[in-house]
Amino acid sequence: MSIKLSASVLSADLANLATQCRTVLDAGADMLHIDVMDGHFVPNISYGVPVLQCLHRALPDAYYDVHLMIDDPAAFAAAFAKAGADLLTVHLEAPGVRDDVRAVVRAIRAQGCRAGLSIRPATPVEELLPYLEDIDLALIMSVEPGFGGQAFLPESVRRLAAVRAELDRRGLDRVALEVDGGVNRTTAPLCAQAGATWLVAGSSLFNAPDMPAVIADIHAL
Ligand code: DX5
Ligand code: ZN
Repeated sequence: MSIKLSASVLSADLANLATQCRTVLDAGADMLHIDVMDGHFVPNISYGVPVLQCLHRALPDAYYDVHLMIDDPAAFAAAFAKAGADLLTVHLEAPGVRDDVRAVVRAIRAQGCRAGLSIRPATPVEELLPYLEDIDLALIMSVEPGFGGQAFLPESVRRLAAVRAELDRRGLDRVALEVDGGVNRTTAPLCAQAGATWLVAGSSLFNAPDMPAVIADIHAL
């Protein structure tokens, strides 16, 4: 299965965001991963709708993989869709999601976006499995969400493999399996072997002396 590389711009030089995004796409990244943080669901604040809107105007052809680490993503689905999001991923643990996950997925799709569902490292994989038929992407966090540049949690490999086994068993090959956090040249092969199809990478790309070489290595997996 071919691997897609989603570049997390959290580690980019945000004063030059459009240029940095152009660079990473030219270097071979398949899409842009936009980490939205509200200071509630995670202990950090990043950027939101206005930044996506400007970026989308500057780079209208890029695919925007938007990771919503916020308490109430359904309330913002329309605004992110209008700003240019292609895929909106929400967290199963978020207060505005956990009580009616399918309603949030429907709200995202009603805006014309694809819908992803993510779990934090401490959430058992079994909690995600009932929703696999309902979503376009399952995201396994391989670090505690909130910050770029953290070390990959090794247990994530087993978690990815468990979701992959279930997707295969149910014939859900249209559902992407994404991993996010600490993905680099060393950990990417482990994720690919475990069945991940979309790899998010931030610091390992933007801090690399040779970004195209890192991306080529990941695509070769
Ligand atoms: C963490 C974010 C990640 C992060 C990845 O909360 O969801 O997307 O930016 O950064 P690296 O690749 O540096 O771990
Ligand atoms: Zn992310």
